[in-house]
Amino acid sequence: MKLTPPCSISLEPRGEKRPSAGQAPPSLGFVGTLAALIGMAMAPARAAEVSCLGCHEEQQKLFVGSAHAQAGLSCPDCHGGDPRVASESAHNVPGFKRPDTKQEIAESCARCHSDVRRMNPYGLPTDQLERYKTSKHGEQLFGHGDQKVATCTDCHGVHDILKVRAPQSRTHPTHIPQTCGRCHSDAKLMSQYQLPADGVAKYLTSYHAQLLLEKGDLSAPSCITCHGNHGAVPPGAKEVGQVCGKCHGRQRELFEQSPHAQAAAAGTFSECVSCHGHHAIQKATADLFAQSCVRCHAQEPKSLARRDVIATLIHNVQGAYEHATARVKEATLLGLATEDQQVLLQEAKTQLTQLEALQHTLLPEQMQPVAARADGIVKAVIAGIDGQERNERWKHLALAVCWGFMLAMAVIFWLKRRELGQKEKP
Ligand code: HEC
Ligand code: HEC
Ligand code: HEC
Ligand code: HEC
Ligand code: HEC
Ligand code: HEC
Ligand code: HEC
Ligand code: HEC
Ligand code: HEC
Repeated sequence: MKLTPPCSISLEPRGEKRPSAGQAPPSLGFVGTLAALIGMAMAPARAAEVSCLGCHEEQQKLFVGSAHAQAGLSCPDCHGGDPRVASESAHNVPGFKRPDTKQEIAESCARCHSDVRRMNPYGLPTDQLERYKTSKHGEQLFGHGDQKVATCTDCHGVHDILKVRAPQSRTHPTHIPQTCGRCHSDAKLMSQYQLPADGVAKYLTSYHAQLLLEKGDLSAPSCITCHGNHGAVPPGAKEVGQVCGKCHGRQRELFEQSPHAQAAAAGTFSECVSCHGHHAIQKATADLFAQSCVRCHAQEPKSLARRDVIATLIHNVQGAYEHATARVKEATLLGLATEDQQVLLQEAKTQLTQLEALQHTLLPEQMQPVAARADGIVKAVIAGIDGQERNERWKHLALAVCWGFMLAMAVIFWLKRRELGQKEKP
C-alpha cells in the first residue's frame, strides 16, 4: 500500500512546513498505520484547507480527482507560495512560480519524478526526463527551445493528471492516438517540420487500431508501443524488426532466414515495414504478394517467379482447405456424423497458418513439407466424407429393398386372402 506520504503529512500541525512526499514516516507500527488510514481519508480535506483554493476554483476542480491530490500533494508543491495566506500576497514568496516555458515545466515535474527517494515509495521509475531528452521532442526543446513539441503536460495534462493506466487517462492505450493526434494530425504544425499529418488517420484504419479501439485488445500496439513514450522516435530501418518482433517473434525469426535479412541488417531494407507498411498495417492476405514484391522487383523475373511459387503453394492449400470445409458443412447439415473430420479440419487449419508464417522465409523448400502435410490431412477429410456418403447411399438402398420386400409380402398376403375369400363363397 502506498501510505507513506499521506501518513507523514496528516500528522503535521496544519500550516507547518511538511516533509516532502516520500520521506520515511517516523514509525510504521500500528499508530503509523492508523494515522496513514486517517491520513488517506483526510488527504482531500487537507487540500481544501490550502488558501490558494479560495481564489483558484478552476484549477481546484481539475485537481481534486488527480493522482497528485490522491498522493496528498497540493498547489504549493508545484508552485510554491504560502498556503496560509488568504490574500494575493500568498504569491509573494521567493521561488513562487508558474512554469512559463516547456523546459521549465519538464524540470519542475522532474524535481520529484527524477528523485529516487521521492518516487521509491510509489515504485515509479525516475528516468522520464532523461529519456525524454533523447526523444525527438526533448532534443528539439532542450536543443533549440522549440515550444511546439510535446512536453510532460502535453501528454499527461496539468492539473488533472491521472495514473497513467487509469481508464480515463490521456495515456491509457485507447486514448494515446488522440493524445498524440492533437499535434500530429495538425497539418499546419506538421508541415513546419516536413512531417506527414495523416499518420494518426492511417493508424486508425489499421488492423492494430481495430483490435485496440474496437475490441479493447490491449495486446495490440498504440503509438507508444512502437515509438516509446518518453523516448519517442521513429524506429529506423535497422530497429523496425525489433519493434514488430516484440510481438511477432515467430515472423521475425523466419524473416531472418529470408534473402532480405542481409539487406535489412545493412539498413537498405526495412524488415516488416517494406511489405506491410507502418501506420496503415492491414490484415495480411495473399493480395500482399501482388502489391509488395513488384515495388522493388518489377524488373526481376527471378524474384517474381519465387513469389509465384510461394503464393501458389499457399493458394492451393487454402483452396483445398476451403473445399473440405464446405464438404464437411454440407455433410453435417445432412445429419452425418462428421466429428472426426472436424478435428482433422482444425489440424489442416493449423498447417495453413504455419504455412502463411513460413512464407516469411521466402524459401519454398521450407514450405513444401508443411503444404504436403496439409494436403494429406485435407485428402483424409474428403475421403472420410466420401466414405460416409457411400455408407449412407448403401443404407438407403438396403432400406429401399426392405420396403420393397415388405410391400411385396403385403400384396401377396392380400391376394392370398382374396383367393381364400372367393373359395369360401358357395
Ligand atoms: C486572494 C486570492 C488568491 C490567493 C489566496 C492565491 N492566488 Fe494565485 N492568483 C490570484 C490572482 C487574482 C491571479 C492572477 C489571475 C490569474 O492568473 O488567474 C493569480 C495567479 C496565480 C498563478 C499564475 C501566475 C502567472 O504568472 O500566471 C499561479 C500559479 C497562482 N496564482 C498560484 C497560487 C498558489 C499556489 C496559491 C496558494 C499558495 C495562490 N495562488 C493563492 C489570486 C490568488
Ligand atoms: C503537478 C504540479 C502542479 C500542481 C500540483 C498544481 N499546478 Fe498549477 N500549474 C502547473 C503547471 C506546469 C502550470 C503551467 C501550465 C502551462 O503553462 O501549460 C500551472 C499553471 C497554473 C495556473 C495558471 C493558469 C493555468 O491554469 O494554466 C494557475 C492559476 C495554477 N496553476 C494554480 C494552481 C492551483 C490553485 C493549484 C492547486 C489546486 C495548482 N496550480 C496545482 C503545475 C501544477
Ligand atoms: C509524448 C508523450 C509523453 C511525454 C512528453 C511525457 N510522457 Fe510520461 N508517459 C507517457 C505515456 C504514454 C506513459 C504511459 C506508458 C505506459 O502505459 O506504460 C507515461 C508514463 C509516465 C509516468 C509513469 C511511470 C513511467 O515512467 O511509466 C510518469 C511518472 C511520467 N510519465 C512522467 C512524465 C514526466 C515527468 C515527463 C516530462 C519529463 C513526461 N512524463 C513526458 C507519455 C509522455
Ligand atoms: C512534489 C512532487 C511532484 C511533482 C512536482 C510532480 N509530481 Fe507527479 N507524482 C508525484 C507523486 C508523489 C505521485 C503519486 C504516485 C502514485 O500515487 O503512484 C505522482 C504521480 C504522477 C503520475 C502518475 C503515475 C502513475 O502511477 O501512473 C504522473 C503521470 C505524474 N505524476 C506526472 C507529473 C507531471 C507531468 C508533473 C509536472 C507537471 C508532475 N508529475 C509533478 C509527485 C510529483
Ligand atoms: C504538443 C504537440 C505534440 C504532441 C502532443 C506530440 N508530439 Fe510528437 N512531435 C511534435 C512536433 C512539433 C514534432 C517535430 C519535431 C521535429 O521533428 O523537429 C514531433 C516529433 C515526433 C516524432 C519524430 C518524428 C520525426 O521523424 O522527426 C515522433 C516519433 C513523435 N513526435 C511521436 C509522438 C508520439 C508517439 C506522441 C504521443 C505519445 C506525440 N509525438 C505527441 C509535437 C507533438
Ligand atoms: C506498429 C508500429 C507503429 C505504430 C502503432 C505507430 N507507428 Fe509511427 N512509425 C512506425 C515506423 C516503423 C515508422 C518509421 C517509418 C519509416 O521510417 O519508414 C513510424 C514513423 C512515424 C513518424 C515519423 C513520420 C512518418 O510518418 O514517417 C511519426 C511522427 C509517427 N510515426 C507517429 C506515430 C503516431 C502519432 C502514432 C499513433 C497514432 C504512430 N506513429 C503509431 C511505427 C509505428
Ligand atoms: C504490442 C504488440 C504488437 C506490435 C509491437 C506489433 N504488432 Fe502486429 N499485431 C499484434 C496483434 C496482437 C495482432 C493480432 C493477432 C495476430 O494476428 O497476430 C497483430 C496483427 C498484425 C498483422 C495482421 C496479421 C494477420 O492475421 O493478418 C500484421 C500484418 C502485423 N500485425 C504487422 C505488424 C508490424 C509490421 C509491426 C511493426 C511495424 C507490428 N505488427 C507491431 C501486436 C503487435
Ligand atoms: C522494399 C523493396 C523490396 C520488396 C518490397 C521486396 N524485396 Fe525482395 N529484395 C530486395 C532487396 C534489397 C534484396 C537484396 C538485394 C539483392 O540481392 O538483389 C531482395 C532480394 C530478394 C530475393 C533474392 C534475389 C536473389 O537474386 O538472390 C528474392 C527471391 C526476393 N527478394 C523476393 C521477394 C519477394 C517474393 C517479395 C514480395 C513478397 C519481395 N522480394 C519484396 C528488396 C525488396
Ligand atoms: C517480403 C515481404 C514481407 C516481409 C518483409 C514481411 N512480411 Fe509479413 N506477410 C507478407 C505476406 C505476403 C503475407 C500474407 C501471407 C498470406 O496469408 O498469404 C504476410 C503475412 C503476415 C502475417 C499474418 C500471417 C502470420 O504469419 O500470422 C503477419 C503477422 C506478418 N506477416 C508479420 C510480419 C512481420 C512482423 C514482419 C517482419 C519481421 C513481416 N511480416 C515481414 C509479406 C511480408
